[in-house]
Amino acid sequence: MALPTKTDEWVLESASSTTFALHQNNSVPIQPLGPDDVLLEIKAVALNYRDLAIARGLYPFPTTFPLVPTNDASALILATGSAISTLPVGTPVILLPAPLYTTGPMTTTTHAALGDGNLPGLLRRHVVVPASWVARYPSHLSFLEAATIGVAGLTAWNALFGSGLPGIAGGSGPRGVRKGDVVLTQGTGAVAMFAAGFAVHAGARVIGTTSSEEKVKWLKEVGVDEVLNYREDERWGETARKLTKDGEGVDLVVDVGGAGTLGQSLQAVRYDGTVAVVGFITAGDTGGPGPGLMDVLPRAANVRGILAGSREQYEEMVGKMEDWDFRPVVDKRVFGFGEAREAFEYLWAQKHIGKVVIDVGR
Ligand SMILES: NC(=O)c1ccc[n+]([C@@H]2O[C@H](COP(=O)([O-])OP(=O)(O)OC[C@H]3O[C@@H](n4cnc5c(N)ncnc54)[C@H](OP(=O)(O)O)[C@@H]3O)[C@@H](O)[C@H]2O)c1
Repeated sequence: MALPTKTDEWVLESASSTTFALHQNNSVPIQPLGPDDVLLEIKAVALNYRDLAIARGLYPFPTTFPLVPTNDASALILATGSAISTLPVGTPVILLPAPLYTTGPMTTTTHAALGDGNLPGLLRRHVVVPASWVARYPSHLSFLEAATIGVAGLTAWNALFGSGLPGIAGGSGPRGVRKGDVVLTQGTGAVAMFAAGFAVHAGARVIGTTSSEEKVKWLKEVGVDEVLNYREDERWGETARKLTKDGEGVDLVVDVGGAGTLGQSLQAVRYDGTVAVVGFITAGDTGGPGPGLMDVLPRAANVRGILAGSREQYEEMVGKMEDWDFRPVVDKRVFGFGEAREAFEYLWAQKHIGKVVIDVGR
């Protein structure tokens, strides 16, 4: 079969606070294949809040426009460079958001490779990347499901299991959330979905929040024990703490809201517990910087920023997902390649549950 030399891609021209400045380019030349590269046919792309934030000018890291958006995909290897012998043509793979971050603590180099929004974007039908950027495909998942795990799944995994902090790990014991711990997740978005699901599988008690009564049912279905409505109960963090044994607080909060939610997250967490700071969804809603020193200190809490996760953590996660037969939740509406703008708008309107995915072959 002749290999493709041209492809179609979506381009984001600039950041705009009012619209998604996206357009589709067809028959764009595919970059030549170097000896250490692989040519991939992208099968499915998952959207992340990051992609909205870049498009709407809310992303807190430097970004150069124009760019091909998105960094979360499943793909099939169509061809390999002359130096690649271990990845047969036809192998399904995942693209990692931080491919240079292999193990241990993040470094300046691995952060730079992750945070600038300038890695080759994946909202295209084909891409050439270094072979070292692709990762093992979870054997039990469809392409649509697998596209969702590289960013949101790995981030949630890192938040739950990526630290030896005593608040969530118990000194020299196994890392991360364990049976009997109490975990608080926020909302029904992608990271929360993975975090709640992983925590349930690890045997934790999970308290979730949402803004919508309809979504309470979904949270209960994935095993969340108690659900609080953060719109009706502004002091949901204090309420969550009262739900724990002796009102001591939860072991871990996976905070996706940022400035607008951290205050209540710090109310929910127990002494020496951990708030994993993952997201900044409320960045557009709040004028101020959020809580400060005197919110953290009296709670004697660990506040841990999360930046995706390492390849080692990814391997751990995929192994457990296979053992648990853990399937990500893909929103009931899946978009075709030509409907990328609609997919961005759908995610922006927060109509989704779980992951918004684009089926690139459709
Ligand atoms: N640090 C990292 O490496 C990393 C990786 C991935 C994502 N992130 C960040 O994490 C955040 C979440 O990403 P995501 O992909 O899960 O987003 P998402 O799928 O768009 O989920 C957003 C959800 O957050 C909930 N939400 C909105 N406002 C809220 C509030 N005030 N309080 C509590 N929950 C609220 C909503 O749930 P309901 O509809 O149920 O109310 C909404 O569905 C984003 O800021 C993203 O950039 C960071």
